[in-house]
Amino acid sequence: MATSATQCLYETFPFPTPGVDRPLIDVVADEIPLVIEGGPADGWSVLDAGCGTGHTLVGLARAYPRVHFTGLEPSAAARDIARRLARRHGVTNVDIVDGALPDAALDRRFDFIYSYGVIHHLPDPHAGLAWLGEHLADDGLLHLWLYHAIGEAQRMRDRELVRLLGAHEDAPGLDVVRALGLSLSLDAYGMPGAWAGTALDQREQDVFDADAYLNPVVHTLRFADLPRLLDGVTDWIAADRLYGPHGAPYLDLSGTGGLPPHGPELLRPEDLFDDPGLRRRIDALDHLDRLRAVELVQRPTGFRALAGRGAALHRCTRRIAGNLLPGAAPGA
Ligand SMILES: C[S@@+](CC[C@H](N)C(=O)[O-])C[C@H]1O[C@@H](n2cnc3c(N)ncnc32)[C@H](O)[C@@H]1O
Repeated sequence: MATSATQCLYETFPFPTPGVDRPLIDVVADEIPLVIEGGPADGWSVLDAGCGTGHTLVGLARAYPRVHFTGLEPSAAARDIARRLARRHGVTNVDIVDGALPDAALDRRFDFIYSYGVIHHLPDPHAGLAWLGEHLADDGLLHLWLYHAIGEAQRMRDRELVRLLGAHEDAPGLDVVRALGLSLSLDAYGMPGAWAGTALDQREQDVFDADAYLNPVVHTLRFADLPRLLDGVTDWIAADRLYGPHGAPYLDLSGTGGLPPHGPELLRPEDLFDDPGLRRRIDALDHLDRLRAVELVQRPTGFRALAGRGAALHRCTRRIAGNLLPGAAPGA
């Protein structure tokens, strides 16, 4: 199998950190019950597609010891760190396997597949999603984190300039990024000044800057792109969360509530406006257009969606069931 330029980048800059001694990213494990009722159930089989160095994967595996986790990752450097990380934390319910979407050889299906920050780097995102669909159980759930087209517009222009000025270099390097004075701040993704509770060290800043400015393939998307990208892959799609310089609110398109009182922020479309006329107008829109208005006001840099098959919606929280996108809902 040919190694893509994207895979070479992550070989040099394993994401999110080459540090086996760095803390796990526990926030996903802590907050997954806001998406899946009760979190992944005992006995489930879960796939992290493009797990990188495994700081999220090992955090989840530690939090859900009766669930079996598989991390799929084409970068040997990242796989090595993920395996060492699992050993360091005494986590045994996780396998790390070599492979790249959309043609990895894996003859298993999974109850829950998540893929964070990966699909938008594939030359053909639909093909990658179709592979994920083939490996999803009949009642499986698919959770995606994607770059958003509105909030990432300036970074895409900066990336274009970096790639233009560095076009003749043989190996990925950060000279042009540094000379232009560019540096990615995690504030842009609603993670103010900290990663896993600690500031980035220089090696990690390099990894984040390489990911941000040197990536050969980046698609930025909106919620409205999902029904087309997931056509034939899942039965339904629901909006979950936005990420941006103003924070990372969970979306609640139907006013179902359901977040703990002192937990993360919840955003209802009508919260965008004080004016009662504007609140009525946004209320009259369907979910895709309500989301469009939210996206235009909030200008997110990233977003998360959940998609699924069959009875999988019953495994989700009421908030998710209230966030279904039209045209991709059960029975549509
Ligand atoms: C931005 S990193 C995200 C890592 C991890 N999901 C996280 O959120 O920390 C993207 C990861 O996708 C991996 N990747 C690149 N191309 C891939 C492909 N075709 N299939 C699966 N993973 C891929 C990269 O090696 C890298 O580890």
